[in-house]
Formats: sequence, structure tokens, C-alpha cells
Amino acid sequence: MNEKFEFLIVQLIEKGYAVLDDFIPEKVVKSLAENLHKRFSVGEMKEAGIGRSNDFQKKENYRSDVISWLDNDTDQEAERIFLDLIDGLMQYLNRTCYTSLKTYEIHYAMYKPGTFYKRHLDQFQSDSGRQFSVVSYLNDDWQPEDGGELVLYTNEGEITVLPKGGRIVFFKSDVLEHEVKTAHRERLSLTGWLKNG
Ligand code: OGA
Ligand code: MN
Repeated sequence: MNEKFEFLIVQLIEKGYAVLDDFIPEKVVKSLAENLHKRFSVGEMKEAGIGRSNDFQKKENYRSDVISWLDNDTDQEAERIFLDLIDGLMQYLNRTCYTSLKTYEIHYAMYKPGTFYKRHLDQFQSDSGRQFSVVSYLNDDWQPEDGGELVLYTNEGEITVLPKGGRIVFFKSDVLEHEVKTAHRERLSLTGWLKNG
């Protein structure tokens, strides 16, 4: 796993973002997608608020996904495997990059057809603890015509990332603006942040 962590960090330093496939094992991806659907069917997937004090980022026209937070102490098997991977990445960063990260927060997200999340930064004025963003996908066989691309607005231009199952995207929360284009098919993800406070 250290090679994967190393790859993510080197890419982030060189390009300002990292994309890595097969970060989450296929069986775990499947099981996490099932958990998400269960949460949806019992009404636990809810509309997300936007950075509390930002009035202009009104929810209705800014993002239209639904989310549900993970419990960091979960003993659900797939969630535990995933959270341990994220914890491993956090520990590796602290050991090798002196990042002083303390915790993480992660939510499931579901984008129904027609939903999106407009261009934004993940670090809000009201939540400066978010240092690194980690986004993982739980989708089977995503095709370009399914939409729902993640667009990263980097110094070298726009990078388009398809939300392919098992893939992880990693970037600095305070500098990299990004956007989720309108999905044409149900789009499942886990979005998280590594925090220093
Ligand atoms: C977010 C976000 C990106 C994605 O939830 O803040 O930008 O690809 N998600 O789901
Ligand atoms: Mn974001």
C-alpha cells in the first residue's frame, strides 16, 4: 500500500492532483455501493448544506447531490477497510511530509440523473481544517456518455476524470477548484477530507 500512497503524494506534488485506479478492491467497492443504496432506501441520504456563511453559494443552484456521513468508528466491514486505507494515507503523509493531520471526515454521495456540483473549493472560510480532499467512486462500468465527470481546474488547464469504480482522486482542499458535471446516470461516490484540526 505504501507504493500507492507514495504515487498519490508524488503526483500531487508534481501536478497539483493525483488520480489512481484500483485504490479500493472491487469487492469492497460493491459492498460500499450496497451500503449507500441501503442508506438511500431508509431515507438517510440528505441534501448537503454549503459552507455555512457563504450566502451566494445557495444550495439549490450550487449542488444537487444527496449525502450521508460515515461514522469513523464503524465496524461495517467494507467501511472499515475503506477508512483504514484513508487512515493509512493520512499516517503516511504525516510520517513523510510532516503534515500534522489529525482526523478525517467522509461522506457517501449520490448524484441522481440531472444532478451536479458547480465549480467550488472544498476549504470554506468556516472550515479551514480541511487540508486534503480524497474522492473515491463506487460506479460499475462508467462511460463518457454517462456524464458526471469531475473537472479539475489546474494550472495546466482543465482535467476531466470519469467516476470509475475503485478510482481515487487526491488534491489540496484550499487551492484546487473543481466541479461535478451533470450526471446522466446514478453516480455514487465517497468524498472525504484529511484535517489538521
Ligand atoms: C465534493 C466534490 C467530487 C466528485 O463532494 O466536494 O467535489 O467527483 N466531489 O464527486
Ligand atoms: Mn469538492
